[in-house]
Amino acid sequence: MSAGKIAFAITGASGALYAVKTLAELLARGVHVELVVSDYGRRLLRDELGDEASLEKLMPYLSAKYGETVNAGVLTVHSNRDLGATIASGSHNCSAMAIVPCSMKTLAGIAHGLSRNLVERSADVMLKEHRRLVIVPRETPMSLPALKNMVLCAEAGAMVVPAMPAFYQQPKSLDDLADFMAGKILSALGFEHDLYPAWTGKVDG
Ligand SMILES: Cc1cc2nc3c(=O)[nH]c(=O)nc-3n(C[C@H](O)[C@H](O)[C@H](O)COP(=O)(O)O)c2cc1C
Repeated sequence: MSAGKIAFAITGASGALYAVKTLAELLARGVHVELVVSDYGRRLLRDELGDEASLEKLMPYLSAKYGETVNAGVLTVHSNRDLGATIASGSHNCSAMAIVPCSMKTLAGIAHGLSRNLVERSADVMLKEHRRLVIVPRETPMSLPALKNMVLCAEAGAMVVPAMPAFYQQPKSLDDLADFMAGKILSALGFEHDLYPAWTGKVDG
């Protein structure tokens, strides 16, 4: 049985590792991921992860880094300029969307319903259809407009999950930090996972 369809966007904010780890986890669960990557998202994949992670080579990159389990899912790539793509319509059966990471520019576009490209239009579809929209913004420090735009998105029904990995799980590597964020994003999308230990409430010492 298909695990359903999820829209997934990568935009030009730092944190490509969060995106690829989350993508790998969704694919390993048999999800059909409908991916759209902004121009700066494409640049981010190459700048932060190297040429082998460029959009055209993403599936081989994911299986080399995370294993063949990613082949359980389906990855469909849409152009950010194609406002006629499946995920641009509320009649398409895509149950949720995550934007990982989300730039302040895309955040602003979503907050104000601009739908200038497929990322913003698909996000708007999620909001109008009252489906799950998970936005993972990354910037520091945050301007007042960015803070207000997060509030607008949250008021419209989006879940704002800032790219803020924790340290209580004692990460040893960048991949451990990415696991934490991917786990938070999966939880927000409604998936179970064991990417970080659940907080036990026990305080050391
Ligand atoms: C290497 C790099 C890192 C960037 N990091 C961020 C970031 O963390 N947050 C952010 O809001 N913008 C960041 N930017 C700027 C955005 O990419 C830029 O505003 C772009 O227009 C966003 O467009 P998009 O949302 O369509 O991808 C970065 C740009 C580059 C080239």
